[in-house]
Amino acid sequence: MHADKLSIGKECRRFENRFAQYQGRKHCIFVNSGSSANLALIQALLNLGRLRKGDRVGFSALTWSTNVMPLIQLGLTPVPIDIELDTLNVSSHTLAARITRYPIKALFLTNLLGFCHDIDIIAHLCKKHNVILIEDNCESLGTVYKGKKLGNYGLAATFSFYVGHHMSTIEGGAVVTDDDELATMLHLVRAHGWDRNLTEEKQMILRVKHNVNSTFYSRYTFYDLGYNLRTTEIQGFLGNNQLQYINRIISSRQKNFFYMAKAIFARSDLYYPIRFDHIDTVSNFAVPVICRARAIRDRLVAACDGKVEIRPIVGGDMTSQPFFHKYFSTANLPHPVNAKLVHEQGLYFGNNPELTKKEMDSIIRIFTSDKI
Ligand SMILES: Cc1ncc(COP(=O)(O)O)c(C=O)c1O
Repeated sequence: MHADKLSIGKECRRFENRFAQYQGRKHCIFVNSGSSANLALIQALLNLGRLRKGDRVGFSALTWSTNVMPLIQLGLTPVPIDIELDTLNVSSHTLAARITRYPIKALFLTNLLGFCHDIDIIAHLCKKHNVILIEDNCESLGTVYKGKKLGNYGLAATFSFYVGHHMSTIEGGAVVTDDDELATMLHLVRAHGWDRNLTEEKQMILRVKHNVNSTFYSRYTFYDLGYNLRTTEIQGFLGNNQLQYINRIISSRQKNFFYMAKAIFARSDLYYPIRFDHIDTVSNFAVPVICRARAIRDRLVAACDGKVEIRPIVGGDMTSQPFFHKYFSTANLPHPVNAKLVHEQGLYFGNNPELTKKEMDSIIRIFTSDKI
């Protein structure tokens, strides 16, 4: 790669066009992490007045911290929605149960670990109740449900290109949308609130509206609240390179997942089964295991020590995390019981596309051993 400047430029724009095309969306806004994508999306919706401070926003009780944090940081009220144990995701049922008592203005749905429940019905439900649906698709790039990629069910979706996710730009993320107004605002939010990354036509509209008729001042005019979440050309280059392999990576991960899940979930005496036969393509980067009892999970943790790297499932039940307690009392909220069970009895291990059959067989042996 040859580049005259290393901050966001041609390589990043090429990546944005190619990723938007891959996802089947009109716009892609490349940012420096999945967390930044979440922050930028919520800020852009606030800037546009589609969300207002104090609005309630639903989120999946089982998710990652920086899915919920921007809601708190930007003055919204987060409303946890429980997940289903058999798919680890919010369903139309858990959503309906919550929004009849706690109306919400938007739902920031996490598509957890390459799975979904009935996201098509969730989208209908949101439309019916005038709820803005946005997807955190940081864990499900490439999953296809009912012929449609996850990330294409709502107004916009976010992605993470962190190392270990489906594809990597080392650090990186994106927001995709078909909505022109939202895309324009996301460009402002990504870089200081100025108009430099807009087309000339869009710059003119803003400048006329705000009476900015001097080239001198137009360079440093800041139209709305923003950050600096820009990427570098190095990340753009890596993204373009990775996109060549994405379909191959997804299909080998899916093959690995089916192979390991079939053997491990067959031990239904030890583990709750996870259902994925309703999904056309399952694209995950880790294999979740939900134990029937905490003691089983503890024995697994000991058995994996020094052999298989394991972690709690994503961030677990967000409402039991210290940051959530600090800012919200959960006393009056119905507890997300399934998310809590996953928090206390679950773990996951990585699903690397380069895992060999020998490595997968040794993982299976640990998880299905009679000593567990
Ligand atoms: C659901 C979800 N959202 C957001 C993020 C944040 O992405 P990043 O690590 O790129 O900031 C993650 C990270 O793993 C995630 O799992």
